[in-house]
Amino acid sequence: MCGIIGYLGDREATPILMESLKRLEYRGYDSAGVAVLEGHQRADRHTSVTKSESKVDVLIEKLQANMPTGKLGIGHTRWATHGKPTYVNAHPHTDCTNRIYVVHNGIIENFAELKKELEAAGHEFTSDTDTEVVPHLIEANYKGDFLAAVRAALKRIRGAYALAMFSTDDPELLVGARLNAPLVVGLGEHEYYVASDITAIIPYTKRVLILGEGEVAAVTPLGAEVSTLDGTTVKPKLVHVDWDVSQAQKGGFAHFMLKEIHDTPEAVANAMRGRLTDDGIVSFREFDVEDKKLKGYEEVLLLGMGTSRHAAMVGEFLIEDWAGIPARAQDASEFRYRRPTFGPKTLAVVLTQSGETADTLVGLHRAKERGALTVAVTNVFASSAARDADGAIYLHAGPEIGVASTKTLTAHMVSLGLLSLRLATVNGRVSLERRRELVTALRALPDQVRELIDREKEIAKIAHRYSRYRNFMYFGRGLGYPVALEGALKLKEISYVHAEGTTGGELKHGPIALLDKEFPVVAICTASPTKDKMVSNVHEIVARNAPVLALITKGDRSLDDVAMDVFEMPAVEEVASAILNTVMLQLFAYHVAIKLGQDVDQPRNLAKSVTVE
Ligand code: AGP
Ligand code: GLU
Repeated sequence: MCGIIGYLGDREATPILMESLKRLEYRGYDSAGVAVLEGHQRADRHTSVTKSESKVDVLIEKLQANMPTGKLGIGHTRWATHGKPTYVNAHPHTDCTNRIYVVHNGIIENFAELKKELEAAGHEFTSDTDTEVVPHLIEANYKGDFLAAVRAALKRIRGAYALAMFSTDDPELLVGARLNAPLVVGLGEHEYYVASDITAIIPYTKRVLILGEGEVAAVTPLGAEVSTLDGTTVKPKLVHVDWDVSQAQKGGFAHFMLKEIHDTPEAVANAMRGRLTDDGIVSFREFDVEDKKLKGYEEVLLLGMGTSRHAAMVGEFLIEDWAGIPARAQDASEFRYRRPTFGPKTLAVVLTQSGETADTLVGLHRAKERGALTVAVTNVFASSAARDADGAIYLHAGPEIGVASTKTLTAHMVSLGLLSLRLATVNGRVSLERRRELVTALRALPDQVRELIDREKEIAKIAHRYSRYRNFMYFGRGLGYPVALEGALKLKEISYVHAEGTTGGELKHGPIALLDKEFPVVAICTASPTKDKMVSNVHEIVARNAPVLALITKGDRSLDDVAMDVFEMPAVEEVASAILNTVMLQLFAYHVAIKLGQDVDQPRNLAKSVTVE
């Protein structure tokens, strides 16, 4: 999820690894490390490993004090998913013989079973990471040919990986591989790079090979050869990158927020990875409660703040709708002061991307004291919420740096979809056929989000037109309501334009008084059981001369000539629609704020993690 760099060439590797890791820092990480192959003669050949359990600068200081010399090396910035961010867990990882060195981005889903098997065969593990199975598995398959051993090992691995690897026995071979995680090979003059991100290598070369899914690159002084795991040679795509160094700071995006919205397809896929069978059976490794016990919970309490409270509201809706269990979403800071009406029959689901929001943590502690079963749905491994709750559901969305939450909300929504499906299944509330439909809908999401993001220019054009207004009303019904609240929150957070969210029903009970031709309304009118009611509400609004931007399902003509603008969304399941509508409104808010010249990544008065009550 974070950064990888590998170098093989005729220059010293260490300074290049240091510079590249610095350039990868923008992705966010918790620890870092490098391995460099030293010594020319076979007898004195060895690998020097340097790690930092914190910043790249600390790693650089260590390297400067004791600079390894060698022309082959790999480097890594880690964003922990399995095992705390410690020195031992920092990459590179090695095998029992200290010959094979590996850096990895992603998640090895079946690492637990592989680790068990390798331990039974005598392999000794030193870290808590999923990654460490890779060098041991290569070692187990090694019969004198490193590349063949890598291929054999990778055939056993499920999940997501971008890997850079070498063996002390092969001083002229650097191997890269990828599946569901990005990796490129940079071609320089007498030198080669393997990198998770073009940003890392942009000052050195503009010629880049893009690896396909499940492909392996064998890099030697003679060039890079790409093949599949079966050993079939493939002709990789060669691209000429026209970025300059300054553009590459945020991976080519103008802002972290925009990059993170563009990360959504991957974040959504990661939230499902390894948790969902074709038949809709859901399992969470760190929240492994047996069906019988889970069935005993009579109500679900969902706690969060800000955007995470909106996620909680989505969870409330889905749990009631799919699982038929009473659910209530609450502002965690209010919840803690209420007279408790819950206890051991309550499942408390705590939503917090950072895992450190003070209000939410206090709510979690309160729920725990009363005997509720607690689970934290969080993006940050080993965060306070993850540690303090009985179980954790990790979002695996990769670090979020922009202050405004984007990809972590959509990952939260997917995770809550899975949790709701799990509760519905244990309570016998959902048929196999319906589960399969939902699986199909969820699995189609990454591509659907990608197609929506491809329409960014269209969204930006609308946003620019609307950026002249000083007030906005967002409204929806059902799942459209939290989506409307979030649309309004995103807009006010980053553009400082007043925006509020309401339900379609509530509108006539007060908010409609505000509307006039200078007060536009964003209406969530995509297909749902209450769509016709939404259409009637839009008519009421238009009668008050307020401009309306309506999100509608493709092909629906009911708001033609009524709304000022309609934006067509794909015809999908309601839950998928809520996620796509959220992404659309994030992009809308982003482009309004950009037009107004605001600092979207660090909006005034806001902090990424609110650690005081
Ligand atoms: C989101 O854009 C916000 N900046 C904020 O509302 C945030 O969602 C809230 O502070 C909760 O954070 P958490 O998910 O890290 O707990
Ligand atoms: N899953 C690996 C770990 O936790 C790699 C994380 C990453 O992508 O940085 O060590």
